[in-house]
Amino acid sequence: MASATPRPIVAGNWKMNGTSISLKEIRLLTGMLKGVRLKCDVMVCPPATLLSRVQGLTRSSRIRLGGQDCHDKVSGAHTGDVSADMLSDAGATAVIVGHSERRADHGETDAVVAAKAAAAHKSDLTAIVCIGETLAQRKAGETLRIIGAQLKKSLPASSTATNTVIAYEPVWAIGTGLTPTPAEIRAVHRHIRKGLLRIIGPKAGMRVPVLYGGSVKPGNAEELMAVEDVNGALVGGASLKAADFIGIIKAYT
Ligand code: PGA
Repeated sequence: MASATPRPIVAGNWKMNGTSISLKEIRLLTGMLKGVRLKCDVMVCPPATLLSRVQGLTRSSRIRLGGQDCHDKVSGAHTGDVSADMLSDAGATAVIVGHSERRADHGETDAVVAAKAAAAHKSDLTAIVCIGETLAQRKAGETLRIIGAQLKKSLPASSTATNTVIAYEPVWAIGTGLTPTPAEIRAVHRHIRKGLLRIIGPKAGMRVPVLYGGSVKPGNAEELMAVEDVNGALVGGASLKAADFIGIIKAYT
């Protein structure tokens, strides 16, 4: 059924990169996207400090905005943290939760990730929930088991087809230039889809976009995005320059 196929999303995760000078890349991107017929949604997740300025530049474009993380509480004594409500107020409609860098740098467990996703849902944000195996886990043949467990434990009960996106990001492929083969990606995405049908429900589970992330570049985007059950990309390094990012988005023109 065509209606059950999720609309793809190409999302750029700027990570801890970007100051005022980077806004020129947003201007370039909005210019490049004008008049282009796209078969995907485009999203940029800049650092929180730039969100409202990027929002000002993208307001009349099709670019959606996302945060990179949120706290699981709405407000309070949590110095340095940003809540889902604050991201929403700054113009975001989505937020990445459980990125492997946050899991590694901040010790975020699946339970923490699920709490953050629930907070995102409460603030009407789409939660882009990241999961992925390490190289050691892949070598030990544990990929599908790890992915299945992360998926189950990182999704809160509030997850639906319209407020949830999954990003499969093998930890060893992030920022390394390495990618799994299309067959390896297909196997994991199929496993994630099966898990979603169980967790979110047979109909809704079909409509949750499952993105691939990890060293997606203009040169490999077409091949990776053509893999069955891949509904878009979460892009790190190659999202920082509009010329590279558009090269990936073009896989969906
Ligand atoms: P990368 O990062 O594209 O630089 O590998 C992807 C990500 O971490 O989301």
